Amino acid sequence: MTDTEKRTASGHFYGLGVGPGPAGLLPVAALEALQNADHIYAPRSRVSAASVALEALRDLDFDHSRVREIEFNMDGDDARIGHHYAGLAREIAALGRQGQRVAYLTIGDAMTYSTLGYLVAALRREAPELPQTVLPGVTSYAAAAARAGFSLGEGKERVLILPCPDDVSTLAADIRANDVVVLMKVGRRLSAVLEVLRELGISEHCALAHRLGLGGEVVLPSLSSVPDAEQLGYLSVLLIRKTKPRRFS
Ligand SMILES: C[S@@+](CC[C@H](N)C(=O)[O-])C[C@H]1O[C@@H](n2cnc3c(N)ncnc32)[C@H](O)[C@@H]1O
Repeated sequence: MTDTEKRTASGHFYGLGVGPGPAGLLPVAALEALQNADHIYAPRSRVSAASVALEALRDLDFDHSRVREIEFNMDGDDARIGHHYAGLAREIAALGRQGQRVAYLTIGDAMTYSTLGYLVAALRREAPELPQTVLPGVTSYAAAAARAGFSLGEGKERVLILPCPDDVSTLAADIRANDVVVLMKVGRRLSAVLEVLRELGISEHCALAHRLGLGGEVVLPSLSSVPDAEQLGYLSVLLIRKTKPRRFS
C-alpha cells in the first residue's frame, strides 16, 4: 500500500479545545469536528464526578452516545503518565486504521497547559501516518478577561502566564517584574495569594474567575473582599495587574 493509500484508508484524529464553557465559546471548526466524530474522548479528573470538558459542551447538538469518558492521570510520575498516554495513543491509532474519526476534548485552549500535548506526542510516535488536526480554543484567561473587563496588556506591557507556585512568597517578584500576571492552577493557595496582593496594595484592581461558564460560576472584577477564599481557588484563574489600568476620559 502506498503512503497516499494509507492516508486515505486511515481515519483522523482531532484535538479540540472546547473553551472554558459556556458552549457558545466553541469555535465553529471544532463544533463541526465534534459533530462528525465517530468517537469522542472526554478526559475526567480522578477527583471529579464528571468531565469538565463535557460540561462546557452542554446544550450543544452532537451524538452523546459516542462519548467515552476517560480518567486522566496526572500524579506526577512521568513513567505512569507516559504509559497512560502511550496506551491511549495505541487505542486511537487502531480506530484510525479502521477509518474512524476520533476527537479528544480538552478545556480552554487545546495546547495551553493541556494533557492533549502528551497525547499528540504519543500519537506521532505510535501512528505517524494518522492525520492529526488540533483546533485551538478560547483560553480560560481570555474568557475571564472578557467577563471582568480586564485588559490583558496595554501598549507594550509585559504579560506573564504562570501556574501558581507552591511557595507563594515568590509571587511578589514575578508581579514586580511584569505588568500583568495571569495566575492559573491556584487551588488551595488562594488565601495566601490574596495576602500577597494585599501586601502589594493591588487587590482592588485584580480579578478572579471561578468555574467560568460552568455551574457555580463566580466572577470578581476586584479582590478587595473575597468571600469563601478556601473554596474559590479551584478551577479559577486570577488576573493580576501591578498598577491601576490607564483610563482615558
Ligand atoms: C489544566 S489547566 C487548563 C488550561 C486550559 N487549557 C486553558 O486554555 O485555559 C487548568 C487551569 O485552567 C484554568 N481554568 C480552566 N477552566 C476554567 C474555568 N472554566 N474557569 C476558571 N478557570 C479555568 C484554571 O486556572 C485551572 O486551574
